[in-house]
Amino acid sequence: MGLAMTFNITRRTFLAGMAAGAAFSPRGGRAAAEVPGSGTRTLTLRAAPASVNLVGGGYPATAVWAYGGTVPGPEIRLRQGQRLRVTVENGLEQPTTVHWHGLRIANAMDGVPDLTQPPIPPGGTFTYDLAPPDAGTYWYHPHVRSAEQVGRGLYGALVVEEADPPPVDRDLTWVLDDWRLTDEAAIAQPFGHMMDLSHGGRMGNVATLNGAIPDAIAVRPGERLRLRLINVANARLMALRFTGHRPWVVALDGQPVPPFAPDEGRVLLGPGMRADLIVDMAGAPGSRHQVVDDAYARNAYRVVDLAYGDTPLRDSPLDGPVALPANPLPVPDEGAAERLQVVVAGGAMGGLAQATYDGKTLGIRDLVQQGKVWAINGVVAHRTDMPPLFTLDRGRTYRLVLRNDTAWPHPMHLHGHAFRIVARNGAPAARPHWADTVLLAPEETVEALLVADNPGDWLFHCHILEHHQAGMSSVVRVRA
Ligand code: C2O
Ligand code: CU
Ligand code: CU
Repeated sequence: MGLAMTFNITRRTFLAGMAAGAAFSPRGGRAAAEVPGSGTRTLTLRAAPASVNLVGGGYPATAVWAYGGTVPGPEIRLRQGQRLRVTVENGLEQPTTVHWHGLRIANAMDGVPDLTQPPIPPGGTFTYDLAPPDAGTYWYHPHVRSAEQVGRGLYGALVVEEADPPPVDRDLTWVLDDWRLTDEAAIAQPFGHMMDLSHGGRMGNVATLNGAIPDAIAVRPGERLRLRLINVANARLMALRFTGHRPWVVALDGQPVPPFAPDEGRVLLGPGMRADLIVDMAGAPGSRHQVVDDAYARNAYRVVDLAYGDTPLRDSPLDGPVALPANPLPVPDEGAAERLQVVVAGGAMGGLAQATYDGKTLGIRDLVQQGKVWAINGVVAHRTDMPPLFTLDRGRTYRLVLRNDTAWPHPMHLHGHAFRIVARNGAPAARPHWADTVLLAPEETVEALLVADNPGDWLFHCHILEHHQAGMSSVVRVRA
């Protein structure tokens, strides 16, 4: 009751405030309809060591680093059009920042150490003031030593609700991670092992859903779920298969797509990537169905069961899902797009002989000595604030041609923008869509249209965090 009361009072206050300001609002009369989403949400997020029971089943609790003492950290929910002010307190023994993955926000709020802000020292604070334009499923995580800080449990979901969300019975977020734990459920050391840096990253041995290993999720026949899947793992690709069900994908990386049923019912997510699904609970009363991750065929595992109750929620199934409302994305000018070639190289079995590192040409042995094994266009990142790989004109459209010249998959992520994936290996994409992270298979080439509409220096890097650490990172500058 207390919460409901607070909400009503807050809402009424906003209504009064908006009415007074209406004459000055550029949106004119439309503003009134947007009142529930207006205003600012304010919260404090503390990053600090914590102890959580990840594994359950009689295992000891795991010492983690967490936001607000929980893994995942608190889910932040906003209405589209709302602002978010987050004061981050650093209770860690090392510097940190918070990055808002996928949000197209002002550069100064992007949370990249040295590039967009000084790192927050131990004991320090920083206030982020965000005005995310898009509805969708996003997440937040540190960007200092992210392989270790994310790997120890610092992450959380950030959901921006549509002004008029599609009707569903439940809207659930699944934050999916994998952990490398010892037999005592402690986080295995070290981070940044050369084997992980040069191969597929730090793969774990324990998979969690919202920071636990749930046996089953109780559902009811006829129920319609919206599932927001977020892959926050350092390195593991995930391909969720809902046995006995037919999920519809309605958004990728937060951005709406025309609803489609994925091939073989599998939803493939590289680290950093998200998918919004509509799943109708079409199973029989009392039945159980596995949700499986079989991204690595020989290493498939059960994520959770859908366990049906006996009483249907409704008698006849709902019609197909409705498309989500569009976000205010820029319109690419494909005809005028300048081509930008990006080649990622290196890693085990990659044959990288030499690359530029901190202005010098180094052979692979010397690079390995520095813990660096990946290059973007022949350059190995030595810090975050590097000379830009590209300098783009604000408002122009570019065609990014991304080629993976390695033996490993790479989820390549650009900050501050969404780009439109239009082709793979020279053929038009079956379903062109917007994304902030694109998974490049080994030897694959992907083309994407980017409207450079957000000024500033933006990180462009592999979201396998060990690859990022080992040099697979660059800066894309958009002129002010
Ligand atoms: Cu999810 Cu550069 O980050
Ligand atoms: Cu990001
Ligand atoms: Cu990579």
